[in-house]
Amino acid sequence: MSALKGVQCLVTAGPTYEAIDPVRYIGNRSSGKMGIAIAEELSHRGAQVTLILGPSSISVPESIGKIIRVESSDEMYQAAVKVWSGCQLGVFAAAVADYKPKEVANQKIKKLGDTISIELVKTSDILQFIGKSKGADQILVGFALETQNELENAKQKIAKKNLDMIVLNSLNDKGAGFQYDTNRITLIDSENKITKFELKTKREVAIDIVNSIESKYFS
Ligand code: CTP
Repeated sequence: MSALKGVQCLVTAGPTYEAIDPVRYIGNRSSGKMGIAIAEELSHRGAQVTLILGPSSISVPESIGKIIRVESSDEMYQAAVKVWSGCQLGVFAAAVADYKPKEVANQKIKKLGDTISIELVKTSDILQFIGKSKGADQILVGFALETQNELENAKQKIAKKNLDMIVLNSLNDKGAGFQYDTNRITLIDSENKITKFELKTKREVAIDIVNSIESKYFS
């Protein structure tokens, strides 16, 4: 029997859409596949999973107990803060927008001048906020998507967001990352232990991640 049986888990996945006006938004290319695969693997091991999912067209397996669908970073933030207090494990795989339009137009913006500027303001960093209030019995796993100084940047995120483990995705690997079915990850824990994995399907990557979490923190 898995040591994760009955463990309350929060998983975030997918992109966020930040509204510009009633018909337009700023988004990103995240499919949500990686986070959904992790939520599915945790569920297979008997964990009680709440998946907070940004706008994703991927079908979600029925085995995942509870799904909260959100659109914007603000909605994801509010849902995550509510769910997190009752959880022992959080895996934050969502590709949350770092910036959102300062103002959302009530009406569709008409085509007028040759150029247009949209002022953007920072979104709340959900993982950082949750990391700050992390209890002694809570385990927090984040993701980092880097294109340069990968290990250094990922290690900094562990400290800044008070994480127990970070999953480093490199966009430099062919076939890995957004929109692909495969991924190549490196796991780094808060004691600086680095484990590199081969290019695998996201399903297999999810098993590697959950194996590492289970053996290090729940066995
Ligand atoms: N994250 C989050 N809320 C945000 C931004 C990021 O919860 N507003 C989480 C992601 O789900 C991921 C981790 O923080 O687990 C790292 O996200 P990433 O975009 O790589 O890092 P940032 O902190 O946004 O830094 P930068 O974009 O400068 O690399």
